[in-house]
Amino acid sequence: MYLAITTNMSIPTDKTLADQGVTQPHQIAELYVLVRTHFDAHFGNVHEESDWQLFRDRWLGRKSGVLKQITDYWLKPAKPALKSAVGAGLNELRAHVESQIEARRLAIESGAEESALLRERIDLSLPAVHRPVGSHHLIRQVFQEIEDIFVSIGFSVVEGPEIETPYYNFEALNIPEFHPVRDDMDTFYLELPKGAKTPLLLRTHTSPMQIRTMEKQKPPVRVIVPGKVYRRDNPDATHSFAFHQIEGLAVDTDITFCDFTGTIEYFVKQFFGPSVKTRFRPSYFPFTEPSVEFDVSCIFCGGSGAAVGGGTCSKCKGSAWIELFGAGMVDPAVYGFVKYDAKKLSGFAFGMGIDRLAMLKYGIDDIQVFFQNDVRFLRQFP
Ligand code: FA5
Repeated sequence: MYLAITTNMSIPTDKTLADQGVTQPHQIAELYVLVRTHFDAHFGNVHEESDWQLFRDRWLGRKSGVLKQITDYWLKPAKPALKSAVGAGLNELRAHVESQIEARRLAIESGAEESALLRERIDLSLPAVHRPVGSHHLIRQVFQEIEDIFVSIGFSVVEGPEIETPYYNFEALNIPEFHPVRDDMDTFYLELPKGAKTPLLLRTHTSPMQIRTMEKQKPPVRVIVPGKVYRRDNPDATHSFAFHQIEGLAVDTDITFCDFTGTIEYFVKQFFGPSVKTRFRPSYFPFTEPSVEFDVSCIFCGGSGAAVGGGTCSKCKGSAWIELFGAGMVDPAVYGFVKYDAKKLSGFAFGMGIDRLAMLKYGIDDIQVFFQNDVRFLRQFP
């Protein structure tokens, strides 16, 4: 808008009075009226700072502003008889122009400030933006509960690789090639470039960390190992192809079967509560001798085997017991793989399925819900 104002300037301020044929004082007064009217008419449209700056320069600019032109073209070359009239008119015009421009500057500044204040105003009465905070997955919470219990009795927590070599996953655990136990752990092997030194597989249990830990540290050893494990199991209510375990290993010079049962019973009572009953059953693992399966009395039917409304409990199938995990005293053959002295040392190990422990403790009847990420499930365990 202001460009039009400046370019259409039709006031003769860049011509001398002589060139315009002005010889009388009243003609000078008319000229000033013309210039002032021009100023007032166009200045009314100036509301923004950028326009205001252009306008100010056009009128007050030291080199070629309108007032400078009047000084150069009208005043300086004016005949003596006209000089005082030209000078007086110029002073009046300057006072008018300067005061108008200054007044508009103040108006623009306070207006800009006001609108900036309006723009940036914060209404503290508005409801806050709600950003939901996530929580730990139930499996992570159960890991934490179990870790806390074992740490409180002197175990430390270590973690190991999910991709293993057959040596750590099987051989060093006393499971040679073609041992039938490998069938139970049929698993995922990685595709490797030709000529790779050793096959690699997703670990089928956390037990390889027994070997890695004993290779690294001298006895006494007291560790637990939380982590993910993988097996080519078909998914159903209690099986997943990826699940979670916590391995436990304690090795020292004087560890007995009593230490083993005492530790496990302490853990179970801390985790499930004091009223739960426990039992050991003989079992078999190539890396423990003797080996046991550890059962707890069914927490769903209170160890009665009967369902609340009659009939048999569907969770323990009427047996009153639920199998929790495998364990045993470390087989002396394993010490041979890590250069421990089997004659001086003894110890125990266990491997718990965390998903199943969580299902039992929190009454969840399908393992698959742990992996579906349905927030309706997750929100029940904030
Ligand atoms: C083992 O994995 C042994 N490494 C445990 C062990 C460690 C024994 C140390 C002795 C000494 P097992 O295959 O039974 O054992 O698995 C242990 C637990 O993992 C089971 O009791 C069960 O709770 C859980 N589990 C096994 N397979 C699955 C599966 N497909 N989905 C979910 N949980 C499973």
